[in-house]
Amino acid sequence: MSENQNPVIETFAADWRTFETTHRIRTYKVLSDSLETTWDDERISNYHFLWLRDNCPCSQCVHPRTREQLFEVLDAPANLSAQRISLDKEGKLIVGWSDGHNSQYEAGWLRSHAYDPASRSERAERLRSVEPWGSELVIPSFDYSEVVSSDSVLLDWLLAARDVGLTMLTGVPSANEAVETAAKRISFMRETNFGSIFEVKTKAETTDSNAYTSLELPAHTDMSTRELQPGLQFLHCLINDAAGGESTFVDGFAIAAALQAEAPEDFRVLCEHPIDFWNKAPQSDYRSHAPIIGLDARGELSEIRLTNWLRAPINLPSSEMGAFYRAYQHFSALTRDSRFLVSHRLEAGQMWCFDNRRIMHGRKAFDPTSGQRFLRGGYMDRDELLSRIRVLERSHVRSTPMAAS
Ligand code: OGA
Ligand code: ZN
Ligand code: ZN
Repeated sequence: MSENQNPVIETFAADWRTFETTHRIRTYKVLSDSLETTWDDERISNYHFLWLRDNCPCSQCVHPRTREQLFEVLDAPANLSAQRISLDKEGKLIVGWSDGHNSQYEAGWLRSHAYDPASRSERAERLRSVEPWGSELVIPSFDYSEVVSSDSVLLDWLLAARDVGLTMLTGVPSANEAVETAAKRISFMRETNFGSIFEVKTKAETTDSNAYTSLELPAHTDMSTRELQPGLQFLHCLINDAAGGESTFVDGFAIAAALQAEAPEDFRVLCEHPIDFWNKAPQSDYRSHAPIIGLDARGELSEIRLTNWLRAPINLPSSEMGAFYRAYQHFSALTRDSRFLVSHRLEAGQMWCFDNRRIMHGRKAFDPTSGQRFLRGGYMDRDELLSRIRVLERSHVRSTPMAAS
């Protein structure tokens, strides 16, 4: 569609979401560089003039089609001030600025983006969705054909993948493309040197990974040698006629939290000392340098990174080596602790989908002479999962205002 076929919309939400009016501004007071508002529940939210001007949702400031910002706050006049302020009957805040520009803000949007302490902590609370688990976990399971055909079942599955971190699909056809079909319900897959799909079967002569033997695999994350470990991992079982080979899982975040409670110093060592992971294949040489327990910019747990068989020799100052091994052994002991362990023998027609940056997975040894075992797997970044959840949630009515991120 060309520019002139697309009428410019004068007022619109500068977002693809809608923000319900749950509260209204009752009064406001102009301060030297900000506007102090008092809501109908007595909450006081202060909005700086620059912040308000920066967030003007009009069609000059935000492109109506892309909903991306056009205005740069550097272009606001020095000493910007609000000269005319009013509330309309819908509760919108209307501001006439000292440079002649006019802005309107919906009450629901203002409330959802307020940055007073109560609003910020409410929002932080809403963003906190991780549900840590131990051996008591009942693995959330979803029917493959319902996930494929229904958006609301899809959303339930994805929320479980985000919050619990470990899910199973059942009734999966023994067709080769089942991983791709399930993954495409979410978004793009992430290709690696093992292909966009990897096949887990014993490749006695040609194996380039311990995974492709019949050996036990201790609890690990995949692709720990990459700067960014893939977020989701899919593992679809097409054949499992071999004795053994049970899947094992522990919640790495639950273990990290237990470590922090039991031995804060060990937790700190694993957060603060980056170590190296190297793959050792003839045709690739991926390397990463990162801590076993990764925290995000908020200081919250964001990932576990640990594949024992891809770890390079530890390179730390001699004075730190003892403490590092103590912490590492403590963490590893928790990954074997029955309090945290969940195990299930994946059968043909079942598929795991788990958060590879949180849930550590493993496998018991199996007897390759007793029958065949064949899994197909793939990866996807966490961003894809979270984006898909947010888009699906736009069409679901919420009882509380949406978190502004
Ligand atoms: C892997 C892996 C699990 C299994 O390939 O990295 O963990 O059950 N496989 O074979
Ligand atoms: Zn504007
Ligand atoms: Zn693995």
